[in-house]
Amino acid sequence: MKCSTLLQRLTQPKNCASENKMKTEFYKIENVLEMTTADAEAIKRAAEILTNNGLVAFPTETVYGLGASAYSWKAATMVYEAKGRPSDNPLIVHVSSPDEAESFAQTNDIYYDIADRFMPGPVTVILKKNPCIPDTVTGGLDSVAVRCPSHPVARALIHETGIPIAAPSANLSGRPSPTTAGHVLHDLDGRIPMIIDGGPCRVGLESTVIRPEGDGTVRLLRPGAVTVEMLRAAGYNVLVDPAVTDPSAAGKNPESPGMKYKHYAPEADVYLVDTSGSKLSFAEAVMSLNAENSGKTAVICYRSEAKNFPEGYVVLDSGGAADADEHARRLFANLRQADESGVDRVYCHLPEKDGIGLAVYNRVIRACSGRIIKF
Ligand code: TXA
Ligand code: MG
Repeated sequence: MKCSTLLQRLTQPKNCASENKMKTEFYKIENVLEMTTADAEAIKRAAEILTNNGLVAFPTETVYGLGASAYSWKAATMVYEAKGRPSDNPLIVHVSSPDEAESFAQTNDIYYDIADRFMPGPVTVILKKNPCIPDTVTGGLDSVAVRCPSHPVARALIHETGIPIAAPSANLSGRPSPTTAGHVLHDLDGRIPMIIDGGPCRVGLESTVIRPEGDGTVRLLRPGAVTVEMLRAAGYNVLVDPAVTDPSAAGKNPESPGMKYKHYAPEADVYLVDTSGSKLSFAEAVMSLNAENSGKTAVICYRSEAKNFPEGYVVLDSGGAADADEHARRLFANLRQADESGVDRVYCHLPEKDGIGLAVYNRVIRACSGRIIKF
């Protein structure tokens, strides 16, 4: 549907997070690969909420998203309100097929090549925006982030709505992104009209964000499951933005505004423990750091290391030592679990920095706000 038609069709917002607590419908889809008639009806209800400028949380393969019409400045404003998100942090616009971006962005060859290779999937491309996308969606930028998710529920919902859906991660701002519908309910119950549960997210970290720079060069603004190695193997010259590995490099006006905000942080203080320069094991390093501390401590460690921690530690399993996909999938749930367990501090194993490990590293250094301890 064209922007102009839609702008006419869209009405006043019906659901506003700043009003009194609303009832949140929680609908679970048991089998996302074989949706039932009842599931289709729920998706219809969700699409109706979206076209009426309301908000719906839905599953994607990366993390849960908080959807709003990408053509409505009011709906975008409600997204910021519901999340408590700074309004200069732009939203990603989701489509059910890459060519739908034509109606609101200036597509280019790199976009279509990336789309052919990696969409639907966990990658987001920054393009110049057309005027039909309100400034509230893009935080005042003249560019727009475009993503075509692969999750069947996300695709069905965008298709049914018939318009592009602006969606940040469906967490309260600053909290770890939600990888289950339960996480969304925890953060947004009573603040939005509907949550669709499509099970745990397969990837567990947000999409890779890239900006084409011409001449076969792309700038990596946020690492994700479409890795630097995959982009290089596709023939791209990949410039990794300095803020990816050093949050302090983000400065006041980073390439990706989201990079300057505190992110992914549980209530507890998170420490990243780097034992790469010593013979100490992770457990030995943690024990030496923690010897004098009182209160409760959690560790995020490889499964094989769990047995090395004495009773009293909350041991959060990040997966098999060599399974970086599992580390990615479990990270945010582990950070949330740390809070559920009421710990005062969390020590986290240093992730590998290649493949999807770079995305895990990027999230952990933000969660720990620079508390990196080197041995
Ligand atoms: O996997 C994902 O991308 C998830 C799911 C729901 O699709 N969404 C997500 O959205 O992570 P959010 O809002 O949590 O993160 C969006 C990121 C931010 O870092 C933001 O700065 C960046 O994308 N971004 C959005 N529009 C941009 C633009 N025009 N230029 C540069 N960065 C942009
Ligand atoms: Mg987010």
